[in-house]
Amino acid sequence: MTKKKYDIVVWGATGFTGKWVAKHLFDTYHESGLAWAVAGRNADKLNEVRDFIGDDNALIDGLIADSEDESTLSELVKSTKVIITTVGPYAYYGSLLVELCAENGTHYVDLTGEVPWMREMIDAHEDTAKKSGAKIVHSCGFDSVPSDMGTYFAQQQAKKTLGKPLSSVRYQLMKAKGGISGGTIASMMNIVELAVKDKAIRRILTNPYALNPDPSFKGPDKGDQMSAKHSKVLDKWTAPFVMAGINTRIVRRSNALMGFAYGENFRYSEVMVTDSGAKGYAAAKSISAGIKTMMFTSITRVGRRFLGLFLPAQGEGPKVDPEDPGFYHIQFNGETEQGESFVTKLLGDGDPGYGSTSKMLAEAAVCLALDELETDGGFWTPASALGDAYLRRLQENGGLTFEVLASE
Ligand SMILES: NC(=O)c1ccc[n+]([C@@H]2O[C@H](COP(=O)([O-])OP(=O)(O)OC[C@H]3O[C@@H](n4cnc5c(N)ncnc54)[C@H](OP(=O)(O)O)[C@@H]3O)[C@@H](O)[C@H]2O)c1
Repeated sequence: MTKKKYDIVVWGATGFTGKWVAKHLFDTYHESGLAWAVAGRNADKLNEVRDFIGDDNALIDGLIADSEDESTLSELVKSTKVIITTVGPYAYYGSLLVELCAENGTHYVDLTGEVPWMREMIDAHEDTAKKSGAKIVHSCGFDSVPSDMGTYFAQQQAKKTLGKPLSSVRYQLMKAKGGISGGTIASMMNIVELAVKDKAIRRILTNPYALNPDPSFKGPDKGDQMSAKHSKVLDKWTAPFVMAGINTRIVRRSNALMGFAYGENFRYSEVMVTDSGAKGYAAAKSISAGIKTMMFTSITRVGRRFLGLFLPAQGEGPKVDPEDPGFYHIQFNGETEQGESFVTKLLGDGDPGYGSTSKMLAEAAVCLALDELETDGGFWTPASALGDAYLRRLQENGGLTFEVLASE
């Protein structure tokens, strides 16, 4: 790769999540010699970002690039080894950037959870990225790093302890505290809008293996859990997890990209855990009813406008309380083909949707910029592209803790 001016550029740094990504890079790597810059479409807003991150002397360059302007975007891509983008919805604003990165051998990370768009990008640009050496890694936030890296960790530890991979893993969100940003709401609404119009998109959304290199792959997993169910293992009630439709596809793609390291019959699912007894049942029922109501309401334009009255607008997000920054706790229950059980835990510090997400995204970019990785150019997932180096960075700087709880 030819020498570039920057190691990393954060495009979308003026947005709700982008400014936290910039803050993490500033706080963690400012004195390390990492060459990085912020980018956006508005110079005044970029100056506000400098104030926000504490860059009083304007040491961090601010670059202008608009998704509508190919020449500025192309210059941006050519100036850096890695680009971080938080400019979403990605299906609206992100396609040209992916194309330019694939052509110019620039590594790329984003926060998309837009499965049909990822499929489109893989099909359109994978060959170009392989030729240029660009490593494109989607979904480097709460979707889908805890799922992907949590499963990677569980499998790695199971192989060490039991000498074999787990043939099934269940992600259980035990507890979480955080909010959701307007940008994320806009991306979700955009997917619903596209799905209503287009049957092909609906087909992608309902295919559990939609992101596998071969999306016609037939494995043991069917649809995601859509109603309240009792978990015998935990003796608690579980509800559908709203991000499962994204995360499960990424984990299955990782397995396939790593040569089916978890096995061709590997099963993976995600749920939210409520409580035991009647209280747990009522909570699980109300979560699944809430998700169904949201989905149903957002089908029509009027419904989406109605929801918009109560949800944060683009550029807005949950109120940030430094005294209470949020957290999440996920338990992974794995089982081998022979019925041995293996349980791991993942703790994340910070609000899943922006605090923790911004650290995971920034660390993925640092990994691509600085670490020796075994992967070549192409479209990857966090686990398949970044593996052990990322696991280390997530624990050292990303606020994530991985732990084995039980093996029997
Ligand atoms: N996977 C996850 O866990 C996760 C978590 C959080 C967010 N996200 C995703 O990340 C994305 C960003 O979310 P957010 O809440 O940070 O959104 P946001 O606050 O609306 O920020 C969007 C950013 O994109 C910029 N932008 C918009 N249109 C542009 C254009 N035409 N050219 C250049 N820049 C443009 C905005 O610039 P201006 O400031 O100039 O408007 C802003 O910097 C969304 O797609 C969201 O779904 C994912």
